[in-house]
Amino acid sequence: MQPQLTNRINRISVSPTATVIAEAEKYKARGIDVVDFGPGEPDFPTPEHIKKAAIRAIESDKSKYTATPGIMPLREAICAWHKRELGSSFEPKECIVNVGGKHSIFNAVGVLIQAGDEVIIPAPYWVSFPDIVKYAGGTPVHVETRPEDGFSVKAAAIEKAITPKTRMMIINSPSNPSGGVVPPAEYQKILALCKRHNIWLMGDECYSHFVYEPHKPYSIASAAGAKDNVIIVGSVSKTFAMTGWRIGYTLGPEALIQAMNKLQSQSTSNPTSIAQYAALEAMTGTMETVPLMLAEYAKRRKRIVEGLRAIPGVTCTDPGGAFYAFPNVSAHLGSGPHSRAKDAFELSRLLLEKAHVALVPGEAFGMPGYLRISYATSIARIEEGLRRIERFLTRGEAAS
Ligand SMILES: Cc1ncc(COP(=O)(O)O)c(C=O)c1O
Repeated sequence: MQPQLTNRINRISVSPTATVIAEAEKYKARGIDVVDFGPGEPDFPTPEHIKKAAIRAIESDKSKYTATPGIMPLREAICAWHKRELGSSFEPKECIVNVGGKHSIFNAVGVLIQAGDEVIIPAPYWVSFPDIVKYAGGTPVHVETRPEDGFSVKAAAIEKAITPKTRMMIINSPSNPSGGVVPPAEYQKILALCKRHNIWLMGDECYSHFVYEPHKPYSIASAAGAKDNVIIVGSVSKTFAMTGWRIGYTLGPEALIQAMNKLQSQSTSNPTSIAQYAALEAMTGTMETVPLMLAEYAKRRKRIVEGLRAIPGVTCTDPGGAFYAFPNVSAHLGSGPHSRAKDAFELSRLLLEKAHVALVPGEAFGMPGYLRISYATSIARIEEGLRRIERFLTRGEAAS
C-alpha cells in the first residue's frame, strides 16, 4: 500500500549533505578512491579519557533509562562548562540534554514555532535550519551575508527582515558552511534587536571552540540581559570528536526547557545513558585535545584556502571558524568564462563522477555558485583533492 504522507513531511527533503555522503559511499563501495570533502565531522578519534568513561559506564551497568532531560551530574557539568568556557550563568533547571545538537534545535523550534511564524536565518545556512522550521509549520526568512564581510551577518541586514510575524532568529557562529564568525559587538546589536522586538535568539554554538585568530570562543549568553531572549544550542559532536555518540544540549529559560522535556518524554526519552557518561567526562575532564585539533585545522585551512585561490576563476574568503572552506566557483558555471557545468549542483555531481571528489553544492545552503569543502581530513588528502579539482576545473580532466 502506498503511504499517504502528511503535509508536514512533504514540506521537507532529505538533508543534502546526507545525500552527498550516500553518493560518495556508492563510489567507495565500487573500490574507487574518493577524496571525501563531504562530511561535517572531525576525522580525529574520540579522546581516550572519554572512551574510557563510556567503558566504565557500561561495566557499572549504567544501562537503564535515565531522567528524560539527562542525568543531573551532566546537566550540572554542562552549565559549569558553559560558564567557565563561555561566561554564561545557567542553572541545571535551564538545561536539557538532547540526542545531538540537531535534536536540540528540532525540539526547541518544535515547542516555539507554529504556522504563521517567521524565523530569520542568515544565508548561507546549515541545511537543517530551514527544514526544521518548515516541519514545525513556520516560514524561514533568509538574510544574505557577503563574502567581503567574511559571511558574518550584520544586525542592520537582519533588522530589515523583521516583521510582526518574526518569532525567532537562528545565528550559527562560527557558521557551517561558510566559517563566518559574528564578532561580539555585532552579536550584541542583534541581541538588542531581539529584545526590542520580542524575538527569540537561538545561538547555535556547535563550533564554538574552533575559531581562528583573531577570533575567540564567544557565547551571546554571556551578554548582559541575554537570558530572557537567548536559547543556546551546543553539542559535544565537534568539540570532542563525538559525532556518533549523539549528545547535544539546550540552555534557555526554565519554561522552554520544561516544554522541551515534555516533547522529549513523548518521543526519544533520554539520550543514550552510556553516551551521557561519556559527555560528562568531556565536560569535566581535560580539554587538551581541543587546541591540538584546532592547530591541525588551522594548518589545513591555510593549505585549502591557498590551493583554492590558486585555481583560476575560484575565489575563497578565509573562514573565521569551523572546518569548511566555501569557495565561489561561479566563473566555472553557466555562461562564466571557464564554464564546466550549469550550476554548482551539477558541478559537484561531475566532480564526484569524473574527478572522484565529494563535496556539497552551495544550493544546499541557499548560496548557488559556491561549494562547501570540509577540510576535516589529512593534508595529504587535501593536496590530492586540490589537484583533482584544479585538473577538472581548468582542463576538464578526470581522475587518473
Ligand atoms: C551548524 C550545526 N548545528 C548543529 C549540528 C548538529 O550536530 P549534532 O547533532 O551532531 O550535535 C551541526 C552538525 O553538522 C551543524 O553543522
